[in-house]
Amino acid sequence: MNKAVFLLVALLSQNSFANEHEQFTQQGNVAIKEFATTLKASLVAAMKSGGPIEAISVCNQVAPAISAELSKKYDFDISRTSLKVRNPSNEADPWEKEILFQFDSLKQQGEDIKTLFVSEAITQSGRHEMRMMKAIPTGKVCLTCHGSNIDPVVQAKLNELYPNDQATGFKLGDIRGAFTVRKITY
Ligand code: HEC
Repeated sequence: MNKAVFLLVALLSQNSFANEHEQFTQQGNVAIKEFATTLKASLVAAMKSGGPIEAISVCNQVAPAISAELSKKYDFDISRTSLKVRNPSNEADPWEKEILFQFDSLKQQGEDIKTLFVSEAITQSGRHEMRMMKAIPTGKVCLTCHGSNIDPVVQAKLNELYPNDQATGFKLGDIRGAFTVRKITY
């Protein structure tokens, strides 16, 4: 291929990847919103009807189900993660950990948690990877199961389901974790 043609091809593919990334960011945001509202609605409804014990089963079963459903619908992986996880399968990978540390330090500098968001596109050996994360604040309702004064009955249930639980001791307004979205294309 001559140089000019090669440059054109490279530019075109870069351009289409930029479009792909823009679309990914848009859809990722929509999926995150859907995840957050659906989960919160089920959580609040369960807390009202059956209290925290019933609500634990929402987080335990409904959260992974929503995650799987949205991943299928949008053709990417969407889930939740944190620096202190309850479910070990939500453990952050090195990239996610770095972003979570950045979020924490930005928050310490006075940044509003609601604005903490990142979307990145990486190209490596013909492989396109797109990732995004959005911080999740700790609200009042979250403290029932992620705070410091957890009811002993609730704590016993959490211990039974999550023997390696690290996700307690959070305070109102802390970053609880983040939604994380990932897509790889070739
Ligand atoms: C009734 C108990 C309960 C309440 C209330 C609750 N959670 Fe959780 N949370 C859980 C359980 C159980 C899990 C583990 C879910 C799983 O197995 O994937 C979890 C997991 C998470 C995770 C995924 C990372 C991890 O630790 O495994 C995040 C993020 C999270 N919760 C945020 C919140 C936020 C934000 C709120 C308040 C809006 C909240 N939770 C309220 C019980 C609760």
